[in-house]
Amino acid sequence: MTKILMVCLGNICRSPVAEGIMRKKIAEKKLNAMVDSAGTSNYHIGEAPDLRSQKNALKNGIDISMLRGRQFSEKDFSAFDIILTMDASNYQNVLALAKTKLEKDKVSLILNHLDDLDSNEVPDPYFGGEEGFQNVFDLLDKACEKIASQLK
Ligand code: 4NP
Repeated sequence: MTKILMVCLGNICRSPVAEGIMRKKIAEKKLNAMVDSAGTSNYHIGEAPDLRSQKNALKNGIDISMLRGRQFSEKDFSAFDIILTMDASNYQNVLALAKTKLEKDKVSLILNHLDDLDSNEVPDPYFGGEEGFQNVFDLLDKACEKIASQLK
């Protein structure tokens, strides 16, 4: 079973959407995998995803209302095989907690799994408008499709 962890800053906007998308692909493709998400910060522990993320995900056929925010911890390095971060800041913050090469090698920027993108960061939609949430969904759907297609 491949264990995948999606990581952003608050665990209320981007990584819950990534979790919801990947959960659906795992179910549809009957993959031997599981997915969870976490934030590098403690800002939104126990909270449901941002309502704008919930609404946008639902518009795209995915219910993430049951997810709750949690903070990334060092234990996640042993609990997960693949740790996918949304932006350079999340990437650096997670990497800074890794103690071994094995742990470091589990961490990547999720968009680095795609070729030919202008940027390898999923932009933080928290302070922006609705269109930011659809952009996040589209980027994550593409990346998750590629990653899911490479899972055994
Ligand atoms: P996320 O978005 O990292 O995609 O969940 C954010 C959520 C909350 C904050 C920043 C980004 N915040 O500053 O509270």
